[in-house]
Amino acid sequence: MPAATDILFTPFSIGEMLLKNRIVMAPMTRSFSPGNTPGEDVAAYYRRRAEASVGLIVSEGVSPNAVTATGTPNIPNIVSGDAKAAWKRVAEGVRAANGKMGLQLWHEGPFRNPEKSEHPDIPSWSASGFKVPGKPLWEPMSEAEIETAIDEFVAAALATKEAGFDCVEFHGAHSYLIDNFFWAETNRRTDKWGGSWAGRTRLAAQIISRTRAKIGEDFPLIIRISQWKMQDYEARAAATPGELEEWLAPMIEAGIDAIHCSQRRFWGPAFEGSDLNFAGWVKKLTGKPTIAVGSVGLSTEFSATYAGEVSKPASLDRLVEMMERGDFDLIAVGRALLQDPEWAEKIRAGRTDELMEFSRTAFETLY
Ligand SMILES: Cc1cc2nc3c(=O)[nH]c(=O)nc-3n(C[C@H](O)[C@H](O)[C@H](O)COP(=O)(O)O)c2cc1C
Repeated sequence: MPAATDILFTPFSIGEMLLKNRIVMAPMTRSFSPGNTPGEDVAAYYRRRAEASVGLIVSEGVSPNAVTATGTPNIPNIVSGDAKAAWKRVAEGVRAANGKMGLQLWHEGPFRNPEKSEHPDIPSWSASGFKVPGKPLWEPMSEAEIETAIDEFVAAALATKEAGFDCVEFHGAHSYLIDNFFWAETNRRTDKWGGSWAGRTRLAAQIISRTRAKIGEDFPLIIRISQWKMQDYEARAAATPGELEEWLAPMIEAGIDAIHCSQRRFWGPAFEGSDLNFAGWVKKLTGKPTIAVGSVGLSTEFSATYAGEVSKPASLDRLVEMMERGDFDLIAVGRALLQDPEWAEKIRAGRTDELMEFSRTAFETLY
């Protein structure tokens, strides 16, 4: 049924970045980068998706430092040894396939497990020491540590541009460092980095504005945010559209170009009384391009996958309906593209009988 999905294959621009279609590969940590450095297998994995009709690839989470940002040696960074040169090869491969790609910059904050890291004696970073609300595990970050974190994100964004990528996505979702500051349950600070939405959003806004000042006006900056938290899938960081507006305003002011709105099921209404999803509300409140995500093309959502459920291919009718209505601009696809590099091309060409089931065995290989 190619005609029915035409909307997915219309071009779209984020600033100066022209995308050939609306399909985004969602960021997915794969842990296939020994020594924190992506190899030829990682480059081929991304290139395969670029060759098969993915409009924009957002990389797996990439650490902006080698000490506090992550706990595991197989997660890539852009600071160690020849990591930046290795990412340059990834960018070249995607560009040669006429694709577009950005790195997702990811600081795990309190979800880094020091004991599993190469620096067990160095505490993890967080706003107030909380991984789970109410139970402090570490000292709150000092002012100097916050400044260092900002500098490292800015440097990593500049390195991303120098390596030849088309954009950057800051990971401000899912309870990691930036989101740990956003959420009132884990940010109990009373200084300028906490308190009101303006205080809790200051870390993200500073990362964005200081990156913007150095990277130039034309390089698209995206931030990923989520209402849900890893400790609590039902959490709603913003209880009302008014709060959501307060959350977003400092980032718009700072110069963000697009917002990636993470949900587990893309069609879920964000607030009572409207069927707009999270990306729909963010677009309505800011006028900025938004990316939606969550269970596209699959029958079960991603946490069920981890529990062992097998997902079957699912209809795209609701997605098409929401996109035709203009709710949001781009749609990110995670597991369906992890499983099958040709997923987007199969949809484009109407090869729906070739769509695959998804099971967690797909996590074990990088193809
Ligand atoms: C294996 C795996 C790794 C993931 N890693 C990341 C990540 O590094 N950064 C991120 O923002 N989201 C990550 N996610 C979440 C996905 O980007 C996406 O939001 C989620 O899988 C829902 O989309 P889907 O239902 O199409 O899979 C990951 C998901 C999976 C399945």
